[in-house]
Amino acid sequence: MKAYRASLLWFARQTDEPCRALFEEDGLLVVGPNADGIQVVQAVGAWRDLSLQYPGLAVEHLPGRIIAPGFIDLHVHYPQTNVIGSPADGLLPWLENHTFPEEKRFAAPGYSAQSATFFIEELLRNGVTTALAFATSHPESVNALFAQAQARKMRLITGLCLMDRHAPQDLLNSASADGRVNATEQSLLDSEALIQRWHGQGRLGYAITPRFAPTCSDAQLRGAGELAAKYPDVWIQSHVAENKDEIAWARELFPRSRSYLATYADFGLMRKRAVYAHCIHFDDDDRTLMRDTGAGAAISPTSNLFLGSGFFDYAGADRVGFQYGLASDVGGGTSFSPFHTMLGAYYVGREGQTKQGLSLSPQQLWWQHTAGAARALGLDGATGTPSVGNLLPGCEADFVVLNPQATPLLARKTAIAANLNELLFAMIVLGDDRLIERTVISQAF
Ligand code: GUN
Ligand code: ZN
Repeated sequence: MKAYRASLLWFARQTDEPCRALFEEDGLLVVGPNADGIQVVQAVGAWRDLSLQYPGLAVEHLPGRIIAPGFIDLHVHYPQTNVIGSPADGLLPWLENHTFPEEKRFAAPGYSAQSATFFIEELLRNGVTTALAFATSHPESVNALFAQAQARKMRLITGLCLMDRHAPQDLLNSASADGRVNATEQSLLDSEALIQRWHGQGRLGYAITPRFAPTCSDAQLRGAGELAAKYPDVWIQSHVAENKDEIAWARELFPRSRSYLATYADFGLMRKRAVYAHCIHFDDDDRTLMRDTGAGAAISPTSNLFLGSGFFDYAGADRVGFQYGLASDVGGGTSFSPFHTMLGAYYVGREGQTKQGLSLSPQQLWWQHTAGAARALGLDGATGTPSVGNLLPGCEADFVVLNPQATPLLARKTAIAANLNELLFAMIVLGDDRLIERTVISQAF
């Protein structure tokens, strides 16, 4: 067992008061193995109380520092690291001119491996300890990312990008080498082989990953839904209702579905552990479908602002009550930093679809990138699943050590914070990778 003495930030139990942050100025975080040998939080609270209960325990003292849950990136593309900051007239030209050409390069295993190494390092440097990530349509790109995450013992979920039409031929899924199995069938066979190889290995999880309905044939979506039914505890990830041209295209291709979102439900791709990026242009029937199926939304504010896609409707989501969390969506998104993403979400709330705009609280923003995102992933310990994104007892011990003195302006602004909200807002608005002094990963496997 090991303990850390510092200021502590964590969240109330979801069932009590979701989104309410708890803060202990002089706190103690005690970490040790659970019955399975996994390093989890054993105790969290005031140093003056807990230190008496753990006499003789090795304590690392971190004066002036804040320990907070590791961040969760609910939607990010590792093959798009080099695509950050590529301007375009909206999503579809951006995919064609910048994204697809870069993703083709991942056919080379060496390129996948070095990109995966950089990507995992960059997540950790920015305090991200769990990610739901896209790879490319090349199985080797998936192996490369899993291997690298495993080496760093990181909780990471990814999967083979399913795309069998409407993209450059050399980026579509490939037929078998002998030509006997067509690309659609082979992509589903490859997905299943990757599930068997990686899902549940240590902290790794597999996500069935249809890129988005317009680049998947009916047969591919049907096969993906069948895989999802066969493996109910794997994740599903895709994109939906991001951009008006994309929506018009999806409606043309799948006219029998009630809406773009409903297309996924019609193929058996909406359930718990299904995470859809963007979810901007929804009506209330779509919101109800999200809620009733237990699917979650990955809100990607820097991407939506950069590509001019629109504004996630927080008020609509809360009125109906579906799950959501925050995501960088690199490379449509402009930063790996959770602080930039939280600030982007604040802008989106201000600009959003209600007349007055919302002023999302800093506790609510931080929750969306930690405990809220864990809930959307089904990793909040609710039904005996592992728990991440919080520091309650039993949570896997993934956390960040923040240094609020990291820059002169941060030091000046945090020093005058009169309450927790002011402190959190100062870090959200002024923070970046310099605020993350250390990222600690639960060393279990
Ligand atoms: N829709 C389909 N593919 C993508 C992608 O790579 N990024 C974003 N933002 N939207 C998509
Ligand atoms: Zn995306």
